[in-house]
Amino acid sequence: MSEMQVDVLLGLQWGDEGKGKIVDVLSPKYDIVARFQGGPNAGHTLEIEGDTHVLHIIPSGIFHPEKENVIGNGVIVDPFILKNELDGLKKKGLSPEKNLILSCKAHLILPSHRLLDAAYESSKGEAKIGSTLKGIGPAYTDKTSRSGLRIIDLFDASFEKKYQQLKAEHFRIINMYNYDYKAAVIDGLSFEQYESQWLKAIEEVKKLRIVNTENYINQKIAEGRKILAEGAQGTLLDIDFGSYPYVTSSNTITAGVCSGLGIAPSRIGRVYGIVKSYCTRVGSGPFPTELHDDDGHKLREAGHEYGATTGRPRRCGWLDLNALNYALMLNGVTDLIVTKADVLSGFSTIKVARSYRRDTGGETREFDLDAPELSPVYDEIQGWQKSLANVTEPAQMPQKLQEYINYIEKKTATPVSILSVGADRSRTLIIAENLK
Ligand code: GDP
Ligand code: IMO
Ligand code: MG
Repeated sequence: MSEMQVDVLLGLQWGDEGKGKIVDVLSPKYDIVARFQGGPNAGHTLEIEGDTHVLHIIPSGIFHPEKENVIGNGVIVDPFILKNELDGLKKKGLSPEKNLILSCKAHLILPSHRLLDAAYESSKGEAKIGSTLKGIGPAYTDKTSRSGLRIIDLFDASFEKKYQQLKAEHFRIINMYNYDYKAAVIDGLSFEQYESQWLKAIEEVKKLRIVNTENYINQKIAEGRKILAEGAQGTLLDIDFGSYPYVTSSNTITAGVCSGLGIAPSRIGRVYGIVKSYCTRVGSGPFPTELHDDDGHKLREAGHEYGATTGRPRRCGWLDLNALNYALMLNGVTDLIVTKADVLSGFSTIKVARSYRRDTGGETREFDLDAPELSPVYDEIQGWQKSLANVTEPAQMPQKLQEYINYIEKKTATPVSILSVGADRSRTLIIAENLK
């Protein structure tokens, strides 16, 4: 934990690295957890004593009632989904409204943004992005084109008028696309049903603590409070550096923390980069180490690789050091966190891509997804057979797992500070002395 600085935790791959679980584990060391980008396309899973909970917009520190949770200006918010999340937490006996703060500058996802997302995707046919259909692309588009609505607008006497105007704009496009919105099903509801619930949900959202979170956070930094910024998606889905156009619509990297929370770059402290011990991707786009064989199947089943937001099966493959080192470079990672090591138990050989073969001969470690198809060159590492179910201390790791970790540290020149060996909060090995 850094003094007077904001620490960052984010995904180094294509999302779903286990961010939610690790934020929950690290929360006791912080005073505030803050989301800085993305929206309900995220699905962050927390497993606490046998109870599973998936968060979409609310930061993963919410299960610690004494910690503040901030939804920053860079996040986009669907009031219907936020209200459902609040209700879900209340059912579990929590009072999330007491330790949640929302930026008045955060943009809104309108019901018609979700129709636009679906209309654009269906018009793309084979080239579709595999969006989560939560309205992310269209809502960020409106933000950038300066026609979006923000949380603060909910308090404006002319909100209804502004809402109808923007909705009418959206419907002009929807009609141009000949998109049959009457047949659309949004989270199990028709458009009209969704819209009516969305409008009702606004009243709940307005009751939350809504402030200029950039002032709040910088005040807390000055008071010496410890802040953890929680990323959503992953580095390889970043709008600038991901596998464009198969990306999300925000900056998922450390730089996004500055614009998404209003924090100066000099305030960034420790950067925890989370990486699965293999790779997954949900949605379309390049994935050089993807497996279509028995090993891929085994990873999917052992790792329960089905989307937390959409339920879609995730594509699985081996760890890719070229991609990982690219992500480390972009984010300034100080600590690696390796998750799902338990999923690799029982593999006789674990492969890791150390480079790509060039068409012209030779190997390259450059990660460039715009290059023609990349064919990975693998190092083979001996696996361990024993389950990790009884491993509760780093010293109890099987020797081969320790060797795998040593290999990653050597190839990335970055220390592995935490190793996750199961979904539950308790299944976490803290390796770094200064995190114990
Ligand atoms: P996030 O989006 O990065 O928060 O990750 P997700 O929640 O979408 O996906 C990670 C999945 O793996 C969830 O189902 C977690 O409960 C689970 N998980 C997290 N860490 C581990 C781990 O070390 N081992 C296993 N087996 N599952 C894990
Ligand atoms: P967390 O935070 C994995 C993917 C989608 C699609 C692309 C664009 O749980 O790691 P979007 O809805 O953003 O327009 O979709 O990005 N995607 C994710 N994949 N984890 C996520 O979030 C994701 N959020 C978006 O599958 O390929
Ligand atoms: Mg997820």
